[in-house]
Amino acid sequence: MCGIIGYVGGKKAAPILINGLKRLEYRGYDSAGMVTIDKNGANRFRVVGRVQNLDKAVSGLDLNMTCGIAHTRWATHGKPTQLNAHPHSDSRERFFVVHNGIIENHSKLRAQLESEGVVFTSETDTEVLVHLIDKLHETNLESAVEKTLQLVEGTFGIAVVCADEPSKIVCGRRGSPIVLGVGNQEMFVASDVSAIVQYTDQVIYLEDNEMAIVTPNDYQIRTLDNKPIARETLQIDWNLEEEGMGTFPHYMLKEIFEQSTTVENAMRGRVMLNEGSSMLGGLQSKIDQIKKLKKIVIVSCGTSYHAGMVGRCIFEQLTDISVDVELASEFRYRKLRLDETTGVLAISQSGETADTLAAIREARRKGALTIGLVNVVGSTIARETDVGVYCHAGPEIGVASTKIFVSQLVILNLMALLIGRYQSISLSEGVDLLRAMGEIPRQIQHILSRASVLEDLARQYYKVSSFLFIGRQLHYPVALEGALKLKEISYIHAEGYAAGEMKHGPISLIDAQFPTMAVVTRDATYEKMVSNIQEIRARSGPVIAIATEGDLHIADVADAVVYIPDTHELLQPILSVIPLQLFSYYCALYRGCEIDKPRNLAKSVTVE
Ligand code: AGP
Ligand code: GLU
Repeated sequence: MCGIIGYVGGKKAAPILINGLKRLEYRGYDSAGMVTIDKNGANRFRVVGRVQNLDKAVSGLDLNMTCGIAHTRWATHGKPTQLNAHPHSDSRERFFVVHNGIIENHSKLRAQLESEGVVFTSETDTEVLVHLIDKLHETNLESAVEKTLQLVEGTFGIAVVCADEPSKIVCGRRGSPIVLGVGNQEMFVASDVSAIVQYTDQVIYLEDNEMAIVTPNDYQIRTLDNKPIARETLQIDWNLEEEGMGTFPHYMLKEIFEQSTTVENAMRGRVMLNEGSSMLGGLQSKIDQIKKLKKIVIVSCGTSYHAGMVGRCIFEQLTDISVDVELASEFRYRKLRLDETTGVLAISQSGETADTLAAIREARRKGALTIGLVNVVGSTIARETDVGVYCHAGPEIGVASTKIFVSQLVILNLMALLIGRYQSISLSEGVDLLRAMGEIPRQIQHILSRASVLEDLARQYYKVSSFLFIGRQLHYPVALEGALKLKEISYIHAEGYAAGEMKHGPISLIDAQFPTMAVVTRDATYEKMVSNIQEIRARSGPVIAIATEGDLHIADVADAVVYIPDTHELLQPILSVIPLQLFSYYCALYRGCEIDKPRNLAKSVTVE
C-alpha cells in the first residue's frame, strides 16, 4: 500500500526522500514521485514502476533543496501512469500534494472546480485536493489545507508543500497513518516509521482529523477545526539490524527461518509455568472485565483472519467464553448486539488495516471491550483498542505474512490460557500446554532443517494450475492459510477447504492434474482425514500429506508425506503451517515470481 515521506531541515532533501521511498517499497505500489522546493521554485519527478526509476531520474542532478515530499502510489482512481503519480500540483505549480487513501466525494468536488475553470491533468481523486488548496489559499498554507480538508469526505494521509513557503510541510490524517519524526533542526513526515527510523527514533503519531505544521525547528499539531493539541514524542524500538535480509535471497524466506526466535519473542516474560498460566501486561488493566466476558468476537483479515479461526478453536478449548470469528470487512455491516460483556479482539500485523480498524471503531461505538493483537508498536489499532498484546516479532517485510501468523497463534494460546486459568483449566492442564509450548522453537528448527523436502516437492508441482488444501478443525484454517500463501506469491490458483466438505462439491475437481495438500496430523480427526485422502487417491488425485512423525500408515495412503513433530493439539497449527509456507515459497521461486513484492498486493491494506 502507498507510502509518504517528507523532509524539511538543513540537508539535501532528495536523497532522504529516495531512501525513505525505498524503505516503503515492501508495502507494495505501482508508481512513485517526489518534489523538492525552495524559494526559486520546485523540481518534480514522477515515474511508473519502481523507486529505482525515480532514483535514476534524479541521479546526477544537483538537487540541493532542503525541503520536499515523496510518494509511492497504489492506484485506486486512475491507472498507474506518470500523470496519475503523485505529487499532484495546481496549474501554476505552486502547491504540491501527496496523498494516501480515497477522497470519496472527489467527483462532486472535481465537477465544481471544473465548472470554475480548473483544468485537471490526472484521473485521480487526489488532484482535487491541490486545486482546492490553491483556490482557498489566502494567508498561509496551513489555513488553505485546513479549509480543504474540512470539505473532504473519505480517508487521507497527506503532506503538502508550497514554493512560497519553502521551509514548511503541512500534513493531515483521517484513516490513513501519518507520523512525524523529530530530528535535530530537521523534521520528517511519513506514513510508516520504517521510512525514517534511520534518522530518528523520536516520533509523534497524528490521530484522525488532526493536522500538523512542520518546520525545521518546530511542529504544531491541531485538530481540523483549529484546536491546538499537545502530544509527547514516542521513542520507537526498531532494530535496523534485525530488519536486514542477511544471507537470505528474500525477506519471506528469512522470516520463515526466524520463526523459532519469533516464538521465543512471543513467549518472553509471559510464561508463568509454576502457575500454569501466562502474564500479559497489556491486558492487566481490564483483566476483571475480561474474565467475565460472555462472548468474544475476533475480527481480522487475510492471514490474521486464519489465525483468528485457529484462535476460536483455542478459546473454545481453554475458556468458558463463546467465541465467533468474523472477517473485519463483513463484521462492520452485521447487526450485532455488543455491550461491555462482549470482547472484540482485533488481530492485525500492521495495526493499520482499514477494515479491521473500522470494525474496532464500530465495536467501541457499541460499548464492547476492544482488544488488540498487533505487531507494529504505536500503530493505529494498537492505540485505539482498550487493551492489547504486541507480537514483539520485529518488522515483517515480506508481503506474504509468515512469522506473524506463528506469533499470533502463540499469543492466542497465552491469552486463552490466562483467561481459562480463572475458569475451568487446571494447573496441570496449563503446565502441560506451557511445557509443550517451550518445545516449539526447537521443533520449528527441526522442520526448517528439512526444508529441502519441500523444495523437492515444489520442483515437482510448481507448474500446476490449481491446488487444493484440506484440513479439519484447527487445521482447516491452516489449509486456508496454505492456499493463501500459494496463491499470493506464486499466482497458482489455490483453494483451502474444510475436508469434510469434499463430498459436497470439491471432489468433482479431482483428477491426475489436480493435486491436494492434506493436513492429517495425529488428532481426533485423523481417521476421517485418511478417508478423505483415500477418496482423492481413488480418483487419481495426487496427495501430499502433512503428518505426525512416526505415522507410517500415512505413507501407504498419500503420494508424499512431510512429517512434523508431535505436540499439544492446540499448538499443532504452529508446526503444520511451516511446510505450507516453504512449499509456497519454493513454488514461487521456481516460477520466477517477485516473492517479497507480489503483484497487486500491499503489506498493509489501508484502503477499504
Ligand atoms: C497475508 O499474507 C497477506 N499479506 C494479507 O492477507 C494480510 O494478512 C492482511 O492484509 C491482514 O493484514 P494485517 O494483519 O496487517 O491486518
Ligand atoms: N487514491 C489515490 C490515487 O489513486 C491515492 C492512492 C494511494 O493510497 O496510493 O492516486
